[in-house]
Amino acid sequence: MNRDGTYRKTKFVQNSKIFRCPICKEEMNVHQFKDMVCSQGHNFNIAKKGYINFLLKAVKTDYDKDMFYSRNLIHSSGFFDPLLESLSNSIIKRIQEKDVRKVNILDAGCGDGSHIGQIINKIYEKLDRDISGFGVDISKEGILLASKQYFEILWCVADLTNLPFASKGFDVILNILSPANYDEFYRVLEDDGILIKVVPGKDYLKELRNIFYEGTEKQEYSNDEVVKLFSRKFRVLDTIELKYSHKMDKDNLAHLIAMTPLSWKATDDKIKEAVGMDIDSISVDFLIIIGEKG
Ligand SMILES: C[S@@+](CC[C@H](N)C(=O)[O-])C[C@H]1O[C@@H](n2cnc3c(N)ncnc32)[C@H](O)[C@@H]1O
Repeated sequence: MNRDGTYRKTKFVQNSKIFRCPICKEEMNVHQFKDMVCSQGHNFNIAKKGYINFLLKAVKTDYDKDMFYSRNLIHSSGFFDPLLESLSNSIIKRIQEKDVRKVNILDAGCGDGSHIGQIINKIYEKLDRDISGFGVDISKEGILLASKQYFEILWCVADLTNLPFASKGFDVILNILSPANYDEFYRVLEDDGILIKVVPGKDYLKELRNIFYEGTEKQEYSNDEVVKLFSRKFRVLDTIELKYSHKMDKDNLAHLIAMTPLSWKATDDKIKEAVGMDIDSISVDFLIIIGEKG
């Protein structure tokens, strides 16, 4: 079977019941092995590369091809490894507690897809379960990169404020360093599913923040508001603070600066200063919030 064509379209056929038309909210089916179509006739092509674009018109975002390329390189350098280890352990614990055999995992705002791709690989190393992974991002560039690397996952260009999925289809929703829509997450999560959100802690990339925003109110960051919003819709089961430092060389530092939205509001001079900074490691600080339906 050809992993770039038939194999990947088959995955959509096998999982068609989980989809819902983002326009009329009707059920969807795969038609003639090439389109996902609803009963009202709204039609979305399944690309050979293994993704569906559910957006009605192209959306221009600040997350461009170069940024995802840099993000992908930083992923490969192991920058997120401790985070991915912690997330996969939390998911494994939940799967074992609930004793589920078939597990659907959605990464909402998946970017270049490396997080969910690697998390599912890690789960497979430790557990024998039937896992289906889904990645959604509003950026086609992110999904294109994702679909070139991870063949087992169903990739969707879509808006997480209007997910192309039926209600209660997912056992786990991941939302990592991305915007959230808690109403949509609540709708598509199984009643006994979990939502895992990752946000920066106050020391995340503090060496960059100190240069970019020295003496301004942006020099300090607090995630208190995010935690408050999360707990309005979901019951918090656990919060995990994860801090470590990651080794940096000059090349990786430039890619780190290019991959983070933190640099979007920095002046060119400040970016130059950060690129030339003499450091051999950078601070990583995440807060992982795990919740269930209240
Ligand atoms: C900082 S990036 C994080 C990407 C990935 N989770 C990671 O950690 O590498 C934020 C992501 O959210 C996506 N995003 C922003 N608004 C979105 C929306 N309304 N629907 C889907 N994705 C969105 C962006 O395209 C971008 O890929």
